[in-house]
Amino acid sequence: MTFDLLTDSGTAAMSAAQWAAMMIADESYAGSRSFYRFEKVVKALTGFKHVIPTHQGRAAERILFQITVKPGTTVPSNSHFDTTRANIEYDRGEALDLVTAEARDTAAPLPFKGNIDLERLDTVCRERKGRIPLGMITITNNTGGGQPVSLENLRGCSAVLRRHGIPFIIDACRFAENCYFIQQREPGQQGRSVRDIAREVFALADGCTFSGKKDGLVNMGGFLALNDDALAAEARNLLILTEGFPTYGGCAARDLEALAVGLEEVLDERYLAYRIASTRYLAEHLAALGMPVVEPPGGHAVFIDARRVLPHVPAHEYPGQALACELYRAGGIRSCEIGSVMFGKTRPDGSFEPSRLELVRLALPRRVYTQSHVDYMLEVCAEVAGRTRELRGMRMTYAPPFLKHFTAHFEPL
Ligand code: F0G
Repeated sequence: MTFDLLTDSGTAAMSAAQWAAMMIADESYAGSRSFYRFEKVVKALTGFKHVIPTHQGRAAERILFQITVKPGTTVPSNSHFDTTRANIEYDRGEALDLVTAEARDTAAPLPFKGNIDLERLDTVCRERKGRIPLGMITITNNTGGGQPVSLENLRGCSAVLRRHGIPFIIDACRFAENCYFIQQREPGQQGRSVRDIAREVFALADGCTFSGKKDGLVNMGGFLALNDDALAAEARNLLILTEGFPTYGGCAARDLEALAVGLEEVLDERYLAYRIASTRYLAEHLAALGMPVVEPPGGHAVFIDARRVLPHVPAHEYPGQALACELYRAGGIRSCEIGSVMFGKTRPDGSFEPSRLELVRLALPRRVYTQSHVDYMLEVCAEVAGRTRELRGMRMTYAPPFLKHFTAHFEPL
């Protein structure tokens, strides 16, 4: 493999300052100094009262939903990430996506295609009164193309949920990238620092789940943060059951040290400017090669619209998977399908229900690749773009019962 664009999760290059902090970590089982340093950074950034370390984002999700989601309840969001959805469904709840209608058009160059539909959110809260344990929003919206949510929409979401007395929890994996987009794109926000915007965003909510593997700039780590004392106490009890003592969660103290430093570094606006410019550079050049991408490009990844690249491959033959495999074969670029492999379903009558979009995600690890790397990736893509008509679809030969895209097997048709 030449370029690993499978995910931006846990693949960041850590800085010298992070490695240095790890060297002086306090690995005490209980009451480690490293935990208190980590907790101080998270509290200063988010303002949340309780900070509960977990080994990664999905552990925070599992604990949160286990104590809040009951059978027959609904958790609305702009779009749930797949582990979020799977954890809600595992607890017999419904994960409801309420992204705005305009986000469905992959070509519309709108600034905040991660926004939640506030009217529908309000209706759902009214109609399912008493059956919504919490409302969520994912920043940036990974499933929908790495698209940001505007501050105005976040304020609106908070207001709707508070009016209905429903706790508001942010899936904050890529909060810094989202807040940078707010600074760059939202009228009236240009004069503010990204940190200041982030503080306002977190203040709108009652807690967050966080995978440090994205905007924490670490290879492992995460947390659940909550304001509610009773809920936090319950969460800590569950944490002890499976993750570990509340001052380390599923992490080594050195992981918490690295995360504390990463959470500061990720707010460096020179770093954010370079990161978002790299993503845009890749997207613009791909589009020029005749590989249509989700517009505008998001923060952490470029999404190729595989349905438009391979119009002759039907959804049940997985055009996204076919394109992803070809990029790997042609130039060692590993990417990831986000389409019918991930979201396709078999209906009760045995027919195939495809995903709404067939995308191939090229996710950019943080602080890893330079512009010359991206130029080489583009040369590979140009070669593949020149012979898309010859490409064939795929057949799925093995699928596990859930989260099938992680371990499914395929063969070419
Ligand atoms: N929420 C979002 C929006 C995510 O993108 C992810 C992970 C998680 C939660 C779960 O966090 O991996 O630390 O348990 N996304 C990775 C990706 C896997 O490739 O997009 P985790």
